[in-house]
Amino acid sequence: MWNISARAAETVEGPRPRDNNSSEGQIISVIAKMHRIFEEYVLASIKRKPMKKVAVFRREHFNAAHRLFNPAWDDGRNAEVFGKCSNPHYHGHNYELVVKVTGVPDPDTGYVMDMKVLSVITSEEVLARFDHKNLNLDTEFFRELNPTAEHIAIVIYDLLRARIDINLELQVRLYETERNFVEYPA
Ligand code: NI
Repeated sequence: MWNISARAAETVEGPRPRDNNSSEGQIISVIAKMHRIFEEYVLASIKRKPMKKVAVFRREHFNAAHRLFNPAWDDGRNAEVFGKCSNPHYHGHNYELVVKVTGVPDPDTGYVMDMKVLSVITSEEVLARFDHKNLNLDTEFFRELNPTAEHIAIVIYDLLRARIDINLELQVRLYETERNFVEYPA
């Protein structure tokens, strides 16, 4: 597994008949030596610092309806601030969710987190609650909390945080449209 440098040297030197007396042969030999030195440096670096953090990502999709509305304001003020998103009859979005989990890969599995488990947790906590739902009417979270992308991201984070190992860092990115997205924690 660690004998990459020898293979790299073969690749460099492989197709040509080797002639150490020619300048071309000397250049190839120097390049092969540089490959070996570089790879030995990388391998030494890997062995020196085993506690390297890696981020893994899971992308999910759900669609849901919402209405942005502040009950303390009249309809005119709501329409002024939230525009079409304050339409009293609601409207839908195709939400794209990216869940990011960061940690040191487990020495036994090589995984930061089993992606199958992350998929199940996201499905149970987020998709089952929000997919094809009216966020204002069908969920407890947004009866009083305005269902902006910011607030939805915070709720999703809290739901997932409760199910993911506390030693792992968590961040969620939520796309409300292709161009508008939020991240929490910021
Ligand atoms: Ni909207």
